[in-house]
Amino acid sequence: MQKQQRSTRTSGPFGDEINGWRHSAGTEQPGGAIGPGQERVTDEWFWRLIRGRRSVRRYLPDPIAPPLLEKLLTAAVWAPSAHNRQPWRFCVVTTQAAKNDLSDRMGRRWRVDLGADGVDAAVIERRVRISHARITGAAALVAVSVSLEEMDDYPDRRRQEAEWMMAVQSTALACQNLLLAAQQFGLAACWMCAPLFVPELVRHSLDLPESWHPQALITLGYAAEGSGNKPAGRRDRAQRLPLADRVLWR
Ligand SMILES: Cc1cc2nc3c(=O)[nH]c(=O)nc-3n(C[C@H](O)[C@H](O)[C@H](O)COP(=O)(O)O)c2cc1C
Repeated sequence: MQKQQRSTRTSGPFGDEINGWRHSAGTEQPGGAIGPGQERVTDEWFWRLIRGRRSVRRYLPDPIAPPLLEKLLTAAVWAPSAHNRQPWRFCVVTTQAAKNDLSDRMGRRWRVDLGADGVDAAVIERRVRISHARITGAAALVAVSVSLEEMDDYPDRRRQEAEWMMAVQSTALACQNLLLAAQQFGLAACWMCAPLFVPELVRHSLDLPESWHPQALITLGYAAEGSGNKPAGRRDRAQRLPLADRVLWR
């Protein structure tokens, strides 16, 4: 991408727009081509996908066809990864028995943790019930893990931690690809972080290899009616802060 010069900005349909500066790496052409042999989707399509992807937590009971799940996983593995070692691992869970077992085990552990934190018993039950409904009500779960099998080994902790972090970062990018693919192909999805807190339990429940380090659960399904985020203007948990709050320019 060509380095941009600073500019004044005006607000366009999708927020900030760079005025009078080149903001695309290729020559803008009506068909979306950016160079010989390269096709580019339209800007509108791109922003629709990026901004249309939102976390959805309630699903219809309809199953997801396995080829569609494979399509999502294929998108996931096209993410960039450190040294292209592809440290991500996925376990696709579609049977009700496996979903129930995972959710029951996680729920039991969560009750204990919340109880130790002194959380009110009724609140604990409510949270566990919501989580259980989400996990068991998803048409499919993708349990995402990291494996260091093909990553570099270092004798010192500093570099080993960096290598671990690279594997985790790469896996998060694969998850984002998966979420975007779900959006593109008509599915709803949400990332759940619970496995990070109980990795052994997840490995055991799903009978995962020892070398897999569970990181996340992605719940998938066709969106239930009214399951989307609240419309802008009302309290929308997922609105974004202005760039000025998060970006430094030097
Ligand atoms: C690392 C990570 C962990 C998350 N964990 C959870 C979770 O445990 N439960 C949940 O409901 N959503 C979880 N989310 C989804 C976020 O709440 C959601 O992405 C955020 O509120 C922004 O909303 P949006 O995805 O609709 O844009 C997680 C997202 C990420 C990236």
